[in-house]
Amino acid sequence: MNSSTTQTVTIELADRSYPIHIGSGLLDQPQTYAKLPNASQALIVTNTSVAPLYLQRLRAALQGKYRQVLEVVLPDGEQYKTWQTLNLIFDALLGAGCDRKTVLFALGGGVVGDMTGFAAASFMRGVPFVQVPTTLLAQVDSSVGGKTAINHPLGKNMIGAFYQPQWVVCDLDTLRTLPPRELSAGLAEVIKYGPIADLVFLDWIEANLDALLASDPAALAHAVKRSCEIKAWVVGQDEREAGLRAILNFGHTFGHAIESGLGYGEWLHGEAVGCGMVMAAELSCRLGLVDQPFVQRLTALIARAGLPVRGPRLSAEDSAGRYLTLMRLDKKSEAGEIRFVLINGPGQAAVRAAPDALVREVIEACCA
Ligand code: NAD
Ligand code: GLY
Repeated sequence: MNSSTTQTVTIELADRSYPIHIGSGLLDQPQTYAKLPNASQALIVTNTSVAPLYLQRLRAALQGKYRQVLEVVLPDGEQYKTWQTLNLIFDALLGAGCDRKTVLFALGGGVVGDMTGFAAASFMRGVPFVQVPTTLLAQVDSSVGGKTAINHPLGKNMIGAFYQPQWVVCDLDTLRTLPPRELSAGLAEVIKYGPIADLVFLDWIEANLDALLASDPAALAHAVKRSCEIKAWVVGQDEREAGLRAILNFGHTFGHAIESGLGYGEWLHGEAVGCGMVMAAELSCRLGLVDQPFVQRLTALIARAGLPVRGPRLSAEDSAGRYLTLMRLDKKSEAGEIRFVLINGPGQAAVRAAPDALVREVIEACCA
């Protein structure tokens, strides 16, 4: 690894602590993976879009370390984050006679990462896995912190496990092939960290958004590093979301309703989160937690990032009712009461319930 340009953020979880390496040219250097535990087999999990770009490069880097480097190429898309697709990973592992030391490598965005992590958590009751995220969203959020899952038709990420990777390798060069729409989706999760935890970072994002949208390497490197630092700080205190970690779900309660309500894959996850943050900020304002200028500031930034700021209608008859029904299925709900991540003054978040009538007003105000 080129230690002069690579930056490392550590997730501190006692004996399950691990590094997030962030830098250029990491993917295809054998040295990047030298300190991983030894095993005879590795399985690279990727998808049909990422495989032609990066699979052979990762495979070549791993070949000196593992006797056999296997691969499984999944269909691409949020709509394939299912049991059926997950089973393709188990088919590959069992078909090749893999043992419980086999190391799984998740090469791709958050969909591949979440499914590979869940497969690693459950194959033979747990095998090691490494995240090699190739989207901005995955580098700043999903590859870090050990949430793994698949979707259910009734709810997003409903079936999964907390299971930490051994290692995260964020090669910033892979972001060069990311389509602009996916870059914007990743920026939603970058922006998220500002209003909930770090106003200095929010200022920095506002000042550097044009550079981020132009994929400026230095700007992306800082965005990935600072996002991972904030996430590491949160996860280190509350790995299993007993409390604090829920703040990382800012915008996700509304966002997940958009994703499942429209059908997975219609809006990108980051797009739904971006719009969900506008709705959550508006709800915070109507509850008197934050002022309207801050909501407008955040909305303007999300729009500048190329993300939608008006929610879709989820039903011709009672769209707000459909949102409420879907949001009651959110993992933060308690006894059927929806709990929202709200901005409790700029730079701070709070998790609390809100009256249905007020939530309806917000949905009507924020949706097309
Ligand atoms: P994704 O995995 O669908 O990737 C987006 C698209 O980019 C896909 O078509 C993919 O094939 C393509 N792609 C990936 N890398 C590329 C590259 N370098 N060049 C060109 N194309 C590339 O979506 P995502 O936004 O990365 O992740 C969203 C998923 O992550 C959702 O399922 C969401 O629930 C999950 N998520 C999980 C966590 C967590 O903590 N586990 C956090 C946030 C989001
Ligand atoms: N993306 C939210 C979390 O990791 O908790």
